[in-house]
Order: sequence, then C-alpha cells, then structure tokens
Amino acid sequence: MELLKKITEAFGPSGREDEVRELIKSEIEPYVDEITVDNMGNLICRKKGNGKKLMMAAHMDEIGIMVTHIDKNGFVRFAAVGGVYPYNCIHRAVRFENGVEGVISGEGKTAMRDWTLDKMFVDIGAESYEEASKMVKIGDMATFNGRFAVMGKKVTGKTMDDRVACYALLEAVKRIEKCPNDFYAVFTTQEELGLRGAKVAAAVVEPDMAIAVDVSSVGDTPESNVIDLTLGKGPSVKIRDASYIISPKARDFMIKCANEAGIPYQLEAASFGGTDTGAIMLTGTGVPAATTSIPTRYIHSPQETVHMDDVENEIKFIKKMIETEI
Ligand code: CO
Ligand code: ZN
Repeated sequence: MELLKKITEAFGPSGREDEVRELIKSEIEPYVDEITVDNMGNLICRKKGNGKKLMMAAHMDEIGIMVTHIDKNGFVRFAAVGGVYPYNCIHRAVRFENGVEGVISGEGKTAMRDWTLDKMFVDIGAESYEEASKMVKIGDMATFNGRFAVMGKKVTGKTMDDRVACYALLEAVKRIEKCPNDFYAVFTTQEELGLRGAKVAAAVVEPDMAIAVDVSSVGDTPESNVIDLTLGKGPSVKIRDASYIISPKARDFMIKCANEAGIPYQLEAASFGGTDTGAIMLTGTGVPAATTSIPTRYIHSPQETVHMDDVENEIKFIKKMIETEI
C-alpha cells in the first residue's frame, strides 16, 4: 500500500513522466534482465524467455494543466493536458513540477456552472506579473493534488489512472516464477494525449501479442449510467472501447488464463474512451491485442477510487498471463 501511495503521488503529466519512470525503474530493476528507455520516454523492461514476445503495457502519465498566459495581477491562465473536465477543476489544489502550489478558480461574472477552462485561472499566491513569472513559465505543467486514503476495502487518490495499473504490472513482475515468453513490461508515456508513447514502444518491441492494463469506468454508484462493470468483482477483459475491438486470439488467451488461475473477471464493452491497445494493435503488420482494466470510480478526478480486491486479482491475472505461453 505504501508503494501504491508513492506511485500515485509522483508527478507525471503527459510528456513529463520522469519522476514516475525513475521510481518504477528503481523498483523493477532487480526483477528483469534488460531495461531501456526509448525516444518517447517509454520504460521497456525485458524478462528473457525462449518463446514469442508478449508485451504488457501500463501508462505512466496523468492528466494535468499547462500555463498559457500570466496576467498583470499574477493570475495564471491554463490549457488542459489530457481529458480535464471543468467541473473537476473548481477550487481544486494543483502543484507544479518545481513545487509551486496553486488553487483553481474562475471568473466571478460567470455562473460557476458555466465555467469552462478558458474562464478559469490558477491563483499561485502572486500579486503581480513580475512575481508570478518568477514562479512559473509559459508551458510549465501542474497536476491535481488528490489525497491518498483507505476507505474500507477501497482506496482513493489521484492518478489511479493509470498508476494503479503500473503498480499491478510491477507487482506481477516481482512475483514471476517462470517465463516461457520473451516478456516485456512497458510503462508508456503520453497515453492521455492520444496513445502516443505506446505507438512507438510497440514499434520498438515488435510484440507477437500485447495486453494493456488500464482503468475503466463503472456503473455501480447511485443513478449512474448503465455500465456493466462493478467495483470488487474482478478485473475486466475489455472487449472494446472507442480505440479498438479485441483480437479473438488475445481474448481466448486472457479467458483461458483467468479460468485456469480461478480469477474472477468481468467482460467489458465500452463505447467510449481509449487505451494503449488502440495504438499497439495497429503497429507493424498488426498485433493481436487487448486490454484488462481495474474497475475505477471518478476517473479523471483527483480522487479516483478502486477496490483492493480488484487490484490483487489484477496482479494475479497479469502474473498468470506472463507465465502462460502465448
Ligand atoms: Co485517463
Ligand atoms: Zn488510463
């Protein structure tokens, strides 16, 4: 739980995943044979095996905001980095990479419900342009400050999307007992900007099969949309989202692994969202690929919430897939 807290609290908006990468690298080093970082900043960790290449991917980046303008009174205007919803920004605390803290608010003349991102600003405590421009620069990024907390069997905090999957992949690698496939655990960059890192990582690895690990929205809260995914009932075998449809080969492999290991799983068919699978599948001459997701509440808010049973089952599921010949 300490490690999950640490990984979720690391700073890593899309394109600035360095802190997350260093943390994962130091944790995974004793358990793999080769570690490389490609030109997109993807962390590629290989565990050698005699079989075909299996790649599993989880993205390191998180959503955030970027400075676009500083006004004469020291208020900072910003743009979204990834899927930032305006209502999740209102009076939220943010932190820049250099440690500068801020609070997001909006223009008082506009009703709060009509606050779009261009009606909002970050108050970083500065009183003039001169003061503010010494604290942050155009292009600097900040992320949302969630608070990591345990709520019974559930855990809440920032950036469970997708650090909880990074954590699950890392934990599974630590538990590997046999490695029949030539295995690559890949921690990707810039997923939130359109699956950018995974596209290059897949070209570097050239996998024979790939499984992305991500988070998915659930339909188990009051009056929620109809989504057949529930917290605590196991990781998903994701049949589709807006970026891909599962390859039958990958689907059969995943279901066989789940059944053999006795892991509860949920079939998921989402009409929205995207995962690294969408990019990986289309590299080279095409890759049989799929996603498994950890069911998650309040995605893209500072308090994304997961069930620890799902996390543990996802770790077991990933371990079983790594240890099964593709
Ligand atoms: Co996301
Ligand atoms: Zn994600």
